[in-house]
Amino acid sequence: MVNYRKWLLLSGVSLFFISVSLSVYFGLKALQYDNKLTQLESSSKQTYHFVLIPEEMDNDYWRLVEEGAREAEKDLNVTLEYSGPVQADIEEHIKKIDMAIASKVDGIITQGLNENQFKPMINKAIAKGIPVITIDTDAPNSKRIAYVGTDNYLSGFLAGQALIKDTKGKAVVGIITGHFAAEHQRLRVQGFRDAVKNEPGIKIVAIEESNITRIEAAEKAGKILAEHPEVTAFYGTSALDAIGIAQVVERMGIAEDMYIIGFDTLPETLELLKKGTIEATVVQKPYEMGYKAVQLMLDIKNGKTISPVHHTETRVIHKEDLPLKQESLQRSVSRP
Ligand code: BGC
Repeated sequence: MVNYRKWLLLSGVSLFFISVSLSVYFGLKALQYDNKLTQLESSSKQTYHFVLIPEEMDNDYWRLVEEGAREAEKDLNVTLEYSGPVQADIEEHIKKIDMAIASKVDGIITQGLNENQFKPMINKAIAKGIPVITIDTDAPNSKRIAYVGTDNYLSGFLAGQALIKDTKGKAVVGIITGHFAAEHQRLRVQGFRDAVKNEPGIKIVAIEESNITRIEAAEKAGKILAEHPEVTAFYGTSALDAIGIAQVVERMGIAEDMYIIGFDTLPETLELLKKGTIEATVVQKPYEMGYKAVQLMLDIKNGKTISPVHHTETRVIHKEDLPLKQESLQRSVSRP
């Protein structure tokens, strides 16, 4: 009987210890799991969500900007959304910025196409605590944190100087520009005008808009040639303009005598440069702009102070400069 009681007591005590140990063990496991979950949650919170809003989604130039930004997305472990108007459209573009604000992204990278329309929306984002970096085209009077891109006035000025040199100071010029209302296009035209203004042998006789499409660039070049048959040179200020102009002058059989200076180094432009239909083009660094903008946005999120203006390289190239090194086409960016 006594033995039976002892046995009962012993079993009771053992059971008690076993159950206490088990509760402690599983309690600790649960705690570890909880900690892991919190770690996971906080690491996914650190993945910032940035949006890059281009002027036109499928434009070859903007795809290069996207490529650079995507490379930075991988290198810096952030999430990048690329979303803009299907076809260049200022209202649609501004709506996209508004949508990004509404979905509380961590940062907005966008063109500042024209200050009047873009400034209020950029300032709205800033007021809601969302940093904005302008890319390709600045809106310096808005509250944007920084600008990454070409010094657009300088690039136009360089184009003007190149035209003077290449034509030995004698040319009747027609200009095809992306949009009259876009600030970077206006600056590229202004820089060009200022460079040639004291050259008595250079005359600008017409300027038309292409809406950044090669088809309209071709149409408008044809219109200029019909209205001003004395034109001997064209200046195209957005990526597809010189390509459109080249199409027309080749079709009309006047490519030999026509001087064309354009913008950017898209593969087709480089082909036409090699062929001699286009004489010169202004280099921009779209890939680098995309990469750098994402890098700077992350710096802002990490509390770093960044300078407001980050100009990427711009220069004029001719046939003799070909082939361009891959490096010079895109990646002269510093990686972390
Ligand atoms: C400009 C871009 C523009 C593109 C159009 C480039 O030269 O920098 O702003 O969207 O041309 O093709």
